[in-house]
Amino acid sequence: MASKTAKSTIHLLNGPNLNLLGTREPEIYGTQTLSDIEAMAKKTAQDLNLGLVFRQTNSEGTLIDQVHTALTEAAGLIINPGAYTHTSIALHDALLALSIPKIELHLSNIHAREPFRRQSYAGMACDGVICGFGANGYRYAIEAMNTLLSQVD
Ligand code: DQA
Repeated sequence: MASKTAKSTIHLLNGPNLNLLGTREPEIYGTQTLSDIEAMAKKTAQDLNLGLVFRQTNSEGTLIDQVHTALTEAAGLIINPGAYTHTSIALHDALLALSIPKIELHLSNIHAREPFRRQSYAGMACDGVICGFGANGYRYAIEAMNTLLSQVD
């Protein structure tokens, strides 16, 4: 099969503490590990004939560097920034610098939780937001990105 170019590759970035999925507050985030979710996401992307780069970092600076990498290497960006969603103006600015389609993603429904989670600096810089569907949200986000990409020249 031909290799995927930047035109058909999505970058899916995961921020702090998402490496602990499976054991971290399972009543909120579910019991699937990030590796389980990565495998499901790769299968979803493959079925849609998209390439997928899947990354996780606990560092704000590294997450911003990964957004910058998407600028030249990705057709679209999906990001679950974890708690940096609610705090990072630097991440907000990095996302604004990116002209490709962008989707913010969360496992939990951030609007139905503590008031401090209702503010999303990341979401303000994205085309759309998917939250509250647990691990399935990763699948939905890739499907939504596929639709967005089919609308781009
Ligand atoms: C999260 C929601 C954030 O508020 C939280 O800090 C996380 C996970 C989610 O996927 O539901 O780390 O991004």
